[in-house]
Amino acid sequence: MPIRNTLERWGSVAKFFHWVIVLLVIGQFVLAFIADNLPVGLQKLAVLARHKSFGITILALAALRLLWRSANRTPAMPATMASWERFGARAVHSLLYVLLFAVPLAGWIMSSAKNFPVAWFGLFQLPDLVAPSETTFDIAHESHEILAFTLGGVAILHLLAALKHHFVNRDAVLRRMLPFARVPALAAVLLVAGFAPHGRALAATPGAGEATGNEASGTLHFRFVQAGAATIGSFDRFNVTLTIGADGAPTALAVTVDTNSLDTRDKDRDSALRASDLFDVKQFPHATFAANSVRRTAAGRYEAPGKLTIRGITRDVVLPFTLAAVPGAATSTWQLAGELPLRRLDYGVGQGEWRSTEMVGDAVVVEYSVKLTAAR
Ligand code: HEM
Ligand code: HEM
Repeated sequence: MPIRNTLERWGSVAKFFHWVIVLLVIGQFVLAFIADNLPVGLQKLAVLARHKSFGITILALAALRLLWRSANRTPAMPATMASWERFGARAVHSLLYVLLFAVPLAGWIMSSAKNFPVAWFGLFQLPDLVAPSETTFDIAHESHEILAFTLGGVAILHLLAALKHHFVNRDAVLRRMLPFARVPALAAVLLVAGFAPHGRALAATPGAGEATGNEASGTLHFRFVQAGAATIGSFDRFNVTLTIGADGAPTALAVTVDTNSLDTRDKDRDSALRASDLFDVKQFPHATFAANSVRRTAAGRYEAPGKLTIRGITRDVVLPFTLAAVPGAATSTWQLAGELPLRRLDYGVGQGEWRSTEMVGDAVVVEYSVKLTAAR
């Protein structure tokens, strides 16, 4: 079978693109319906991750298919077709191409808007197309659904036309698109993306006393890998107290976090995180860190060896941070920032099915940046 198209029939590459996309689109509906009937949980996450990866594959194949089409001639329509039929065929084919782009793009936008970044089979992460927003999510969700069902409807119309060509007109239109190309096996491998720590070197010049900060003066984020994609969440209520000795060096650090304030920009995921299998916020409303000593490791860089308690489990950790005086502030103000890598399972954040690290990675990075003001 020739690779390129001729005026009489489709070449093997064009056929390959056509039939692989057909199979993937059918698979997308199956996966979406399976996901729709699953409760929020790991299984649903896994099915939707596959749906998204195959959806992005369709987007890429549609682009390659059009490129290939532009580099090839297209087989001529049978002379027996009336001009309205030719117009109709062209319109339906164009609409199918448009939908092959619009449906996955709407899905991608929807995922970005819900703060569920897309990772292609866990191998690489795609950039977010929009910022998290409930309104954008609602619009994209609705569009994705309508466009997907339009694609399904137009494809059925297109299938009926192909069958009419074969059985009624008895022309070569269906035959020249057959036989089916072989479908290559697509390996679904989930890899956990690594996080590169990025500490900032700042010069510290604190004075004596206690300096405090909270969510109004900073951020407390946590980054984790979900379905192969680096995902970010935050705690929206927390308190930080840094004690500064007479020599101006920090001597103690205390942090309290309200676990109920967690926010990953998705209500379903937040409820799952608050429930007993994960943070169990009813029983463990706070996570704390307390260090009674602080050591300086370089100019403006410190380490606080202390006790971290999450979900009732306490472990020794060394919390690194940078500290710098905020220039020009009216009161004594310092910027404390840093990152602490953890393993969620060390603290029991993951009971039952959530103990699995296939869909939600064990590694979590807590990222803090908060302005501390001297207490008067
Ligand atoms: C041609 C490709 C695709 C087809 C035919 C397709 C089709 C569908 C269908 C029929 C649904 C069920 C509609 C509903 O009940 O809401 C659905 C849901 C979904 N799709 Fe796709 N999809 C495609 C690509 C994508 C892509 C690329 C993504 C993301 C990157 C995506 C993400 C989703 C998500 C997250 C849902 C579940 C929405 C919910 O929470 O109910 N889809 N898709
Ligand atoms: C998701 C489902 C499908 C999509 C998105 C789709 C898409 C397309 C597109 C865009 C073309 C135009 C090719 C071009 O001019 O570059 C085409 C051609 C064709 N499709 Fe499909 N198709 C689907 C399913 C089917 C099915 C189920 C059949 C038949 C059993 C079929 C039979 C054909 C035939 C025979 C042609 C060639 C028409 C010609 O030679 O002029 N397609 N398809």
